[in-house]
Amino acid sequence: MTEREWDASRYDSAHSFVWERGRGVVDLLAPKPGERILDLGCGTGHLTDQIAESGAEVVGIDSSEDMVRVASENFPHLRFEVADARSLPFECEFDAVFSNAVLHWVRPPEAVVDSVRRALRPGGRFVAEFGGENNIRAIMTAVGEALYRLEQDGTEVYRPNKYFPPLDEYVSLLESRDFRVANSAHFERPTPLDGGEEGMRRWLRMFGWDYLSPLSPSQREEVVAYVEKATRPTLYTNGTWTADYWRIRFEAFKPE
Ligand code: BEZ
Repeated sequence: MTEREWDASRYDSAHSFVWERGRGVVDLLAPKPGERILDLGCGTGHLTDQIAESGAEVVGIDSSEDMVRVASENFPHLRFEVADARSLPFECEFDAVFSNAVLHWVRPPEAVVDSVRRALRPGGRFVAEFGGENNIRAIMTAVGEALYRLEQDGTEVYRPNKYFPPLDEYVSLLESRDFRVANSAHFERPTPLDGGEEGMRRWLRMFGWDYLSPLSPSQREEVVAYVEKATRPTLYTNGTWTADYWRIRFEAFKPE
């Protein structure tokens, strides 16, 4: 394994489950014709397009230039911009901010919540889903063990540091930043990965690049092989790998 897999075209073709699984969050958003909606962390734009089909006016933003380029190629009639979720360049502009599978990537979460609140008009809603407590625990435990083994041999490793909060912690965070939380849930959402036997290694190459990239190609292969071996008994069945996702999903309102 020598190649980086974090590229938007691969994301689009080999990890489509991310946006396909996000359709339920669009249902919770329930966009209406004429509404102005921000898709925060739009990736390659598929959910932005689904929201636009309702007749809403949507802007998709992503921190990755590559993602924004592919989103613009996929959906040239829609507006996409590169922006940081912690410092959105919008003030009281949107009826709703939507986000799928993104908030666990961005720290500090307080900065994201404040930035979303600024972007919303009074009475606007924030509807999102992301990884909550227990998310990918089996995978991350195996990754941690594999990195520990390398460390024992003197390798300097980078440890993943995602934000998977308990539900009550995240609801308190929203409330402390002046959102009213209308509904919220924390639930297990086992997610079959694309790619058959290759599914886990493809997922690791795509989403684990932060800790894999500092390693040599043979060390990367060692980590991937270790994770496959350790998680196979629980996460691989009948030719398909399933990631042990747990989600937080919520709808919260900025006061009038
Ligand atoms: C997710 O829960 O969507 C996720 C978390 C970490 C890495 C990749 C995906």
